[in-house]
Amino acid sequence: MGIYTEQLQTHCDRFEAALPGYMPKTGGLQTVVAEAMAYACAGGGKRIRPVLVLEFCRLCGGDPELAMPFAAALEMIHSYSLVHDDLPCMDNSPMRRGRPSTHTVYGETMALLAGDGLLNLAFETALDPAYRGTLSPERVLGAASALADAAGIEGMVGGQTIDLQSEGREIDLAVLEELQRGKTAALLIAACVMGARLAGATPEQERAARMYGENVGLSFQIVDDILDVTATAETLGKPVGSDSENEKNTYVSLLGMEPARALAKQRTDQALEALSVFGEEAASLRQLAQALLTRDH
Ligand code: IPE
Ligand code: IPE
Ligand code: MG
Ligand code: MG
Ligand code: MG
Repeated sequence: MGIYTEQLQTHCDRFEAALPGYMPKTGGLQTVVAEAMAYACAGGGKRIRPVLVLEFCRLCGGDPELAMPFAAALEMIHSYSLVHDDLPCMDNSPMRRGRPSTHTVYGETMALLAGDGLLNLAFETALDPAYRGTLSPERVLGAASALADAAGIEGMVGGQTIDLQSEGREIDLAVLEELQRGKTAALLIAACVMGARLAGATPEQERAARMYGENVGLSFQIVDDILDVTATAETLGKPVGSDSENEKNTYVSLLGMEPARALAKQRTDQALEALSVFGEEAASLRQLAQALLTRDH
């Protein structure tokens, strides 16, 4: 079963149709890196982050079409984080989204540059006046600033730093939560907050968006850690057992399987609670939080 309601599937389909239009041109001397960038963003990704941008924009009264460049920008940063995460110097993973990782196809040098290129292209895209439509500079800046904060040292890069520095060492639960908040929850929070800001959300709506993103994000990484133990590489589209192979700290390694499941469920309940301010209009996001808890990939 899919993870999206019909409404969210529509966002996802529109996103898939729009994404190639934001990819860099090929044909010049940089063709190989442009191809690697497009390769990294394509494939069987779930597109959760862009779908959240578009849906929070709609939910807070905005036009999801205007949020599309920001949805693309966030997926570029997520995809770049995966390209670098898979490199031999990080998690050393040869498979991603059901096919060879970017460095497996293009080599480490081009994978490194493709990641750099995607991080930059994200901001080129989000800040391109040609894509701005009727959005006010204030909304554009609010969304771009949420994206910048989430991608950096206080967000994804910081979380990845703790993740890699903790390999083979024992960390406590507080550090593990900080690790997962950074490497995973930060970009999911950014998705929800960007959508809200692009719509000109009220402070109460933005708070709710942040709380949903944070709890879905933390639950999401716990489930990712569980699936690394319980799933098959075929359904997951990436290797299994790689966390124990890399001596990673996860909730499964620290607490065991059942307490990890219970914590993921608890975070999902908190995400659902955050949606109460939106009433019935948030039905799709309720269903998404539940589906992400029981997903198989
Ligand atoms: C994988 O993210 C990396 C984590 C933060 C756990 P996703 O599970 O969203 O990866 P794709 O985009 O669907 O491939
Ligand atoms: C990666 O976490 C999170 C980021 C890339 C920021 P993981 O290392 O657990 O992700 P997978 O399992 O390789 O997708
Ligand atoms: Mg990793
Ligand atoms: Mg990894
Ligand atoms: Mg993982």
